[in-house]
Amino acid sequence: MTKIPPQACARFFSLAAVGLALLTGACPGASPGDIREASGAYQATGIKISEPTASSVSVWTRVTRRADRIADDGPLPVLHVYDRTSGQELAIKDNARFVNGRPVVTFAAGSDLGSLRGAAPGTTGQTRVRYRAAGSNTWRETAWQEASPERDFTAVFGLSGLPASTRFQVAVEARINSRAAVSSTVDGGFVTAPAPAADAGIKFCVMTCQQYEDRDQVDGFNIYPAMLRWQPDFFVNTGDAVYYDHGPVHALNVDLARYHWARMFGFPTLRDFHRQVGSYFMKDDHDTLTDDCHPGDRTGDFTFADGLRVYREQTAQGDPPYRTIRWGRHLQVWLLEGRETRSSRAADRTNPPVLLGPEQVRWLSRTLAASDATFRIVITPTPMVGPDRDAKFDNLSNRGYAVEGNQVREFLAHQKNLTVITGDRHWQYVSQDQAHLIQEWSVGPASDAHAQGWDEDQPRPDHLFLRIKHGGFLSGEVKTNATQPSLTLQLHDVNGGVVFEKTQPATR
Ligand SMILES: [Fe+2]
Repeated sequence: MTKIPPQACARFFSLAAVGLALLTGACPGASPGDIREASGAYQATGIKISEPTASSVSVWTRVTRRADRIADDGPLPVLHVYDRTSGQELAIKDNARFVNGRPVVTFAAGSDLGSLRGAAPGTTGQTRVRYRAAGSNTWRETAWQEASPERDFTAVFGLSGLPASTRFQVAVEARINSRAAVSSTVDGGFVTAPAPAADAGIKFCVMTCQQYEDRDQVDGFNIYPAMLRWQPDFFVNTGDAVYYDHGPVHALNVDLARYHWARMFGFPTLRDFHRQVGSYFMKDDHDTLTDDCHPGDRTGDFTFADGLRVYREQTAQGDPPYRTIRWGRHLQVWLLEGRETRSSRAADRTNPPVLLGPEQVRWLSRTLAASDATFRIVITPTPMVGPDRDAKFDNLSNRGYAVEGNQVREFLAHQKNLTVITGDRHWQYVSQDQAHLIQEWSVGPASDAHAQGWDEDQPRPDHLFLRIKHGGFLSGEVKTNATQPSLTLQLHDVNGGVVFEKTQPATR
């Protein structure tokens, strides 16, 4: 860590005196970003290259006051929650939802929201994207966008009219204002999807469930460099990208929710991955609000509607959140939504609960029927096949959602070359629904420390593979063999080692 020279410290305090900085008392012992924060605009939470298609992509960034997140030895806020009716203090436990809770957040002397452990405070400024096809001499550039506190200083640039199957370079720039020089550039890249008729090979990765407290290295998570080595064309995060309701800092208001995103996506391993790979983000319960949350829920001062808004703000997820993307002639991917489309707790008291909802079910059925892709992969934030634990009531493999679950499994059963990939579960498995023969791959949690939830180490009849007590990720590869394309799926440990694989030739 860089030691801050005394003159820089003095400069910092003089700027703080005119109201340019929130980080009172940051010197001495401050992070290296302090020197530069007074004079520049940075991108400490990295960039995300979201929603790639054959002709478009969204580039996300966030303008920050420092070049890097604050180190993990910084202070934490102190949280207390009181029942709004009785005034009684409530215990802060993992998975707790404070329906009637009044949060009180205090900071240690000399600290505030912007100087917390892992924080990457935003700042007003301007940002733009420069991009070109790899090998081209000509850069194109977007207009500058202003970063403002209303959107947590984030900006999203839609790039469209791009050629298919093309690798692009991007350079995302930030500056304090229109008179200032560029003070931060993040270099990255992505590839556009092949056109629907293109006979193209594809590689992709899928992961889920990354909890801040369960990271397996000081820079974040081992799976990110492991996935990068695989050189995927695209990546899917199926949800629980942050855990608002775990650890000592529950996201009981919008500011703390944004802090969860900043401290996670400021990790070097995530920054390095996301600047180089096009991503699809899918939300689940812990990165929307709380464990097993429903529309209409709230925890402290943070509502379900706030959770949807912050999720889109931080990931550039599109609307509607369920979508299908074609990756050439041989692969079509469906990304389902199970959180904002599910029925509310109040509705569930009188009607059979739904998770996808009738509109999404009709869309899924219609688009599957219309697809002529060789392989179809349905990626779901929570399981459709399982098996899951009997006590759970949150997904289509649970009894509580049997009506909609059976309806969906019925029509999936009649699709050839179809595989389901699920996030959410904290163990890895490959299972096959005994009634409909649908195969489901559970990618496992992002780290070994986050593995839990299934204690049986012996497979059940539904299991083709079962691995507990470990994390990892999934990779997939479509190969375009001359006569018969194939799909290989692999489950990996957190360092990239293959623990299970299966190659499926296309059936006609
Ligand atoms: Fe999870």
